[in-house]
Parts: sequence; structure tokens; C-alpha cells
Amino acid sequence: MQVNGRHYRTVWQEPDDAEGLWIIDQRALPFAFRTERLTTVDSCARAIKDMHVRGAGCIGATAAWGMFLAAREGRIEEGARELTATRPTAVNLAWAVQRQLRTITDASNKVEAARRGAEIICNEDVAACRAIGQHGLELIRALAAAKKGPVNLLTHCNAGWLAFVDVGSATAPIYAAHDAGIAVHVWVDETRPRNQGARLTAWELAAHGVAHTLIADNAGGHLMQRGKVDMVITGADRVTGTGDVANKIGTYLKALAARDCGVPFYVAFPSSTLDSKTLDGFAIPIEERSADEVIWIEDAAGRVRVCAEGTPAANPAFDVTPARLITGLITESGVYTAKEGSFSFQDDAAEAALKSEY
Ligand code: MRU
Repeated sequence: MQVNGRHYRTVWQEPDDAEGLWIIDQRALPFAFRTERLTTVDSCARAIKDMHVRGAGCIGATAAWGMFLAAREGRIEEGARELTATRPTAVNLAWAVQRQLRTITDASNKVEAARRGAEIICNEDVAACRAIGQHGLELIRALAAAKKGPVNLLTHCNAGWLAFVDVGSATAPIYAAHDAGIAVHVWVDETRPRNQGARLTAWELAAHGVAHTLIADNAGGHLMQRGKVDMVITGADRVTGTGDVANKIGTYLKALAARDCGVPFYVAFPSSTLDSKTLDGFAIPIEERSADEVIWIEDAAGRVRVCAEGTPAANPAFDVTPARLITGLITESGVYTAKEGSFSFQDDAAEAALKSEY
């Protein structure tokens, strides 16, 4: 993604800095563009937990680099535990840590194996998101052919390039359609309480030149009833082997409205988000975050309280949308119906090759 004339990934190493790891501090967006250098596994775990980085693919990639820092500190097992404990719902994180453990454990040069492993995880993430974009593009192209005027898409939270290493999952088909000359317009859910839609998705879409309109979270159902939404695309933090999807809180309500209004509801995700061993969406651990995120809203100037002092608040960060409400799953290997056994992903050839290299 281009920012201020430079191409950025969300997590990277600078060529002249073999010891550090760089991230975009997403807490500052869209008011400021800030990067941060991490040099210890502790600081990496804190950056994930406190959401300097966020989004399933991005926290997975950052955790993969965290394992490189853990290897440098000679604290591989402890680092793995610390990173895994930061955020429980998005399975990409545990997946990346486990994959790095398999790569590092028997390697003679553990630090170099971890560095290369992290690079490969990042590159695979980008390639998967690009492929998701191409598969989803065909769905948008078909909608465009069937109507006059722009295709109206609705998305929730931020499953854009900031939520991955680059490109994004839910936004990848949108960017691909825009780049292919198809007129698209995106309804952007603000996504309370942290406002990832308002702060991140709207910023990303504007940077890419995609027409969009920010809406309050509660507006989606009304717009669907009035025929103003042609397709919903969201991302996912964990998808079960039966096609149930955990995603940012509020996704389930959008899926219900979409079903009632006959609007197709798609979920886009790479294979690193698939938890095929879990067969029931309600078995997915749901992260409960601080009530402060509900009680206070942040802007460039600071934070303001939105309720009376002392008001109790709860903050479940994700919900589960059952497979029966999902029209299709857009993955790097194609578009699938959301049901058990319908997924087929490539095997981990890159992981096997890497293990024999170090
Ligand atoms: O709490 P976050 O911001 O890390 O939440 C993750 C998300 O951004 C969404 O749930 C997203 O749709 C899936 S992540 C690709």
C-alpha cells in the first residue's frame, strides 16, 4: 500500500536493521501516520495486545516476527506462550506461532530459520490476499453486469490491508474491481467500539480512490431494505471446519439483515484463518476487551466519555455468524459454500521446504 509516496507493508524489517522489527502503529490513524520499531518479544506481545497492530492476518504476521525476536533472546517456548496469550479469537496468531515453532525447534540456526519463516508467512499472506481479490472480483463483475450504476458493497470493521500484511481480505475484491474499471461504492460501518471502519477502512478506501460512505453501525439493515446494498463482504478472525465465522462484533446482525433482505453475504479470508478442527462456531473463544473502549471514544484531541460516570459496560469483541447465513466464503483457492468439507487449501509446501533448509 502506498502511504506518502512510499510502499508499506504493515510489518517489515528494514534492510539495514537486522535486529528490529517495524510496524505501523494503527492507533494513531487516520489522524497521524506513525511507525514503531520493536526489538523484544515482550514489546511485540504488548503491541499486539494493546492493538498497535490489529486484524487477523496482521497479528499473525507480527507474532511470526515476534518468534524471531524470541529466538534472538533465546526464549522460544516462553515467547510462544506470551504471544499466543495476547489475543484469543483470531486463529492466525496461534497458527503463526505454531508454524514458527515447527520451523525453529530443530533448526541449527534458530534465529535465521525464524527470520526466514516470518518472511515466508508475510509473503504468503500477501499472495493469498491477492488471490482472494481475483476470486472476489468475479462476483462483483457479475453483479455489475446485472445492474446499471455502481455496485454497492457493505463492509464491517477493517479487513483491509491494515488487517493483513498488505492488500486485505474483504477489501481485496473491492480494490481489484475498482482497478478493473468497475464502478463500486462501499458503505463503511463505523464499527463501534473501536471504530476500525471509520478510522481505518474509510482511510484506506480514500487512499485507493474508492468511492465510499461512512455509516453508523445501525444503518446497514435500513439500507439493505431499501435496495441500496448489492453485496456484503466481511473478513473473518476464525472460520470453523463447518463454515461458521467469528468476526468483529456486529457482523452477525448484518448477516441476519442480509438474509432477510435477500442480499448476498460473503466472507473473505485466507487459509491461515481456518480452524478446521473446531466444528462448532460457539466453541470459538470470544475476546472480552476493556469496558473503557465502550465508555470512551477517542479522536485526534484525546478521549471523551459517552455515558454517565459509573455506567457499567461490557465489550465482547467478536460474534459468530452461523454458516447457514453465509452465501459464500472467498478464499485464495476459490469461492466455497459455507459447509463442512467444502474447503480445499494447498498443503504447507513452503513450510516443509524451509524445515529442510535450516
Ligand atoms: O479487533 P481487531 O481490529 O483486530 O478485529 C479484527 C478485525 O479487524 C475484523 O474482525 C476483521 O473483519 C477480520 S480481520 C481480517
